[in-house]
Amino acid sequence: MMFKSTSLQQYNTFGLNAMAKKFAAFNNIEECKLLLAAAAQQQMPVRILGGGSNILLTQDVEHVLLKNDLLGMALLDRLGDLQLVSAAAGESWHSFVLWTLDQGLQGLENLSLIPGTVGAAPIQNIGAYGVEIKDYFHSLVAIDISSGHQHTFLKQDCEFGYRESIFKKKRAGEFVICEVRFLLNTIPKYNTSYGAIGEVIAQQGVQDISARAISKAIIAIRQSKLPDPAVIGNAGSFFKNPEISTERHDALVQLHPQMPSYKVNDNSVKVPAGWLIEQCGWKGYSANGVGVHKLQALVLVNYGQGKGQDVYKLSADIIASVQEKFDIVLEREVNIW
Ligand code: EPU
Repeated sequence: MMFKSTSLQQYNTFGLNAMAKKFAAFNNIEECKLLLAAAAQQQMPVRILGGGSNILLTQDVEHVLLKNDLLGMALLDRLGDLQLVSAAAGESWHSFVLWTLDQGLQGLENLSLIPGTVGAAPIQNIGAYGVEIKDYFHSLVAIDISSGHQHTFLKQDCEFGYRESIFKKKRAGEFVICEVRFLLNTIPKYNTSYGAIGEVIAQQGVQDISARAISKAIIAIRQSKLPDPAVIGNAGSFFKNPEISTERHDALVQLHPQMPSYKVNDNSVKVPAGWLIEQCGWKGYSANGVGVHKLQALVLVNYGQGKGQDVYKLSADIIASVQEKFDIVLEREVNIW
């Protein structure tokens, strides 16, 4: 039998204990295609697992679960001041970012230390500290799960949005992402728009700004407020920051003058969900082994013995209380399995 019953505890950053009834890993494309064909023959639906850093396991997985272990990174074409690079989907995102810095390339430094794999990154267009991967994304190669055929998606095909892409919406669950390509800068072009970056670089005593210095600052900022999944189970931001109309915003500010917000365009603003959740009194909350991180209310945590159902219930209670207080409905960013 190709597929084995496997505990997923070490395969999800929440550290939740659920079983995958039919699990297999692949480290080359042929193997991946064979596993897809075997699943298709038995008419079993398939799911792909990367780093397990954006899923909440609330039950055992009945699908065939294929862990993407494709590895490899390479420098491809040089296009003027830009360098095309490629990474296999199973590579750890952070290792890939460090590798690009080792190559003297710039662009991904603001995305340092994000958990998960290269293949998962485009699915939700990962972003942090003023940069999203769509800013440097070139293309990806994926296998269609139902046909086994290979497809290339260019940037314009991916329908990237805030924590969104075609792979999370319209065509969710249809592809195995195998390889992702990025166009990076060979000459300095930094994004230091996020306030704390400059301050942290100064604190670190750095004289000249560089991609490496920004990466170090980002790592320090993340470590200061986000829990390390190796220590406390979590999946980063559990909710998206909601976007509301400018009129709604102006009315809410009358009631809550301290409410922070970021302009999206002339008609809408984004409000930090962490602030809304904190205002509802959830920050640092803990019950049944699960809770809300004490330094960042947007992050739900498993203290070790928690259950996925309890994290889910907590997220539902948070959504209800934010809706009651602010009339804003939070949307989960993490995929519920
Ligand atoms: N805030 C609070 N209380 C909290 C948390 C935040 O009042 O408990 C306030 C902060 O004071 C600040 C604002 O909310 O005014 C924004 O906070 P922060 O800069 O920490 O960022 P965020 O909006 O909470 C987003 C991303 C993070 C990303 C950071 C930095 C989403 C859903 N989250 O968080 O991404 O690292 O910005 O760019 O957009 C992730 O997606 O998993 C993730 C960690």
